[in-house]
Amino acid sequence: MKALVTGGTGFIGSHLTEALIRKGVQVRCLLRSTSDVKWLKGLPIEFVHGDCNDKASLEKAARDVDWVFHLAGVTKAIKEETYFEVNGLGTENLIHACLENNSRLKKFIYISSQAAAGPSQNGRSKRESDSCEPVSFYGRSKRVGEESVLIHAHELPVLIIRPSAVYGPRDKDIFAFFKCLSRRIKPCPIGRQQHVSLCYVQDIVQGIILAVETETKSGEIFFLSDGNDYRMGEIGDIAAQAMGITAFRIRVPKRMILGIACFSEYLSKLFRRPFLLNKDKAEEMINKDWICDITKAKTLLGFEPTVPLSEGARLAFEWYKKEKWL
Ligand SMILES: NC(=O)c1ccc[n+]([C@@H]2O[C@H](COP(=O)([O-])OP(=O)(O)OC[C@H]3O[C@@H](n4cnc5c(N)ncnc54)[C@H](OP(=O)(O)O)[C@@H]3O)[C@@H](O)[C@H]2O)c1
Repeated sequence: MKALVTGGTGFIGSHLTEALIRKGVQVRCLLRSTSDVKWLKGLPIEFVHGDCNDKASLEKAARDVDWVFHLAGVTKAIKEETYFEVNGLGTENLIHACLENNSRLKKFIYISSQAAAGPSQNGRSKRESDSCEPVSFYGRSKRVGEESVLIHAHELPVLIIRPSAVYGPRDKDIFAFFKCLSRRIKPCPIGRQQHVSLCYVQDIVQGIILAVETETKSGEIFFLSDGNDYRMGEIGDIAAQAMGITAFRIRVPKRMILGIACFSEYLSKLFRRPFLLNKDKAEEMINKDWICDITKAKTLLGFEPTVPLSEGARLAFEWYKKEKWL
């Protein structure tokens, strides 16, 4: 089998690329001129230059592959338009490049996000059949990406994965939380009662591979998480315990999050670099439950997550220490 991975230089994409190679799949990765290939060094990969924002540059990448794993995307941006340019239009460009240049494609997998569906309501886990109510520009742009994929479900075998928040080695976002814990601070944003789903990166990779290998109807959508429902207040406790650290809880009220987000957005524009926290992320965080139901993935794909937070936090922490990030 031959596969194209977009976003292969990133956090989830680099783990997926390694796993595909271990399975004997020939992997082609899309690279931009600015891409950093440090996680892919030494691996037998065919690199093809291209950018999701430039449709013509995707032709070569899309040719002669059996599977496409589309992970390229932006999770934080300085300008709102960037989310839609990359996550929306970029996805449409790749779909068209596949339709026009590859008649043998067996499956196109789009890695969307729980953010595309929006938060869960009334304490009930979000299901694939629920309506989509994204609350951020990021979430709306991932939903636009999903729609670009679904519109072609009759002519291309497509499948959408919606991961919950993903953590693990190489992640730079939830890493900020590990950094606070290592400094003995347990940040607890908003209410301790908020609920979220999480997933260790190897479990997400396992789910993506099952999705490509299992026969599915074109246009199916699957949520993926570790299957647990974590209270915001207990995440720090579980992670700190796994790391063998005693940390002090600091409650971060809604107004403080918004204030930090505004300041961070200002700095982001000043330094022309997207920062982790901005008003869009704050909008996602405040007063929302983010739990998803993975029954469909378990039933139809045989997905069985194996790494709960207590174990995943330990593995991530050990990796951060080994790599001297902490
Ligand atoms: N991490 C999570 O918690 C999470 C949760 C749910 C869904 N997701 C989704 O999973 C995917 C991967 O996330 P991640 O956390 O691994 O992100 P990441 O580490 O930031 O990686 C993003 C990847 O996208 C590539 N990319 C960005 N813009 C591109 C463009 N215009 N053309 C081609 N490639 C481009 C980047 O390439 P360069 O190396 O050139 O920058 C990089 O390889 C994203 O689509 C994200 O929305 C992530």
